[in-house]
Amino acid sequence: MNQHTHLLVSIPPCKDIGDPLLQHGELLKSKLNSDCLQWLCYLSTTSVYGDCGGAWVDETYQPKPSSELAKLRLAAEEGWLNLGVDLGLAAHVFRLGGIYGPGRSAIDTIMKPEPLSNVQRARSSKKFTSRVHVADICNALNSCIHRPHPGIYNIVDDDPAPRIQVFSYAHELINEKWPSRTKKMVIDESCIEKGNLRGEKRVVNARMKKELGVRLIHPSYKTGLQSICDHIHDHPSLSSGEESLSDP
Ligand SMILES: NC(=O)c1ccc[n+]([C@@H]2O[C@H](COP(=O)([O-])OP(=O)(O)OC[C@H]3O[C@@H](n4cnc5c(N)ncnc54)[C@H](OP(=O)(O)O)[C@@H]3O)[C@@H](O)[C@H]2O)c1
Repeated sequence: MNQHTHLLVSIPPCKDIGDPLLQHGELLKSKLNSDCLQWLCYLSTTSVYGDCGGAWVDETYQPKPSSELAKLRLAAEEGWLNLGVDLGLAAHVFRLGGIYGPGRSAIDTIMKPEPLSNVQRARSSKKFTSRVHVADICNALNSCIHRPHPGIYNIVDDDPAPRIQVFSYAHELINEKWPSRTKKMVIDESCIEKGNLRGEKRVVNARMKKELGVRLIHPSYKTGLQSICDHIHDHPSLSSGEESLSDP
């Protein structure tokens, strides 16, 4: 740590413990207290906002985390920002939307041979999901490193579209590229009927653009999915391919 200028923290909080690094606060402070270190960024999540009834939320919105992990996350954000102040670092918190990118997207989910999981089916009822392409997380980090401006930032795209719309677009792209190789997406209708805006939100990214000067590479899931599709050369069911993770 004595030889590094920038610290990026991507570790999520652990149940019953909170942030696994901050629990050793004094040790951490002594290790990070160097003339070299100037900048830190803690990767957080938009889930800290909690139940917003479908409202647009920016960074001034008072977070109301509902789950245990989201409460620990909010505490971790505060802990890292305070540590930044104590050590005189330019400290940033990035509240990320659902991350997607190559190997982890609606395209990958549709092309996997397995059926949709229950969690994925339940998510189909969501009206708004704020997401961000992994390239834009790197893009925002790069801007922030070159133009530090301490504080909290929502890192999401411009288009908090419903998951069902995203899947339908992914289907179109796949059908165009590999006609008759996709599985049908089954939506649990009962789940849609139950769906409401209670736990939902649309996350505003204006501060990221204004203070950090970020110009999104993928302002919408459309170009993001298109670029993922363009870079797949073989249909994954025909190759060994890596296991895909969950998609937003
Ligand atoms: N995925 C999403 O859609 C999403 C959305 C919003 C926010 N986020 C948050 O953004 C951050 C990065 O996301 P991600 O999807 O890249 O997360 P990830 O794949 O789960 O990676 C988390 C990283 O933290 C490390 N880690 C976890 N627990 C640790 C511990 N106790 N001690 C040391 N290292 C530990 C992991 O190491 P190993 O690889 O060794 O396990 C891994 O490198 C996470 O905090 C995540 O919760 C994710």
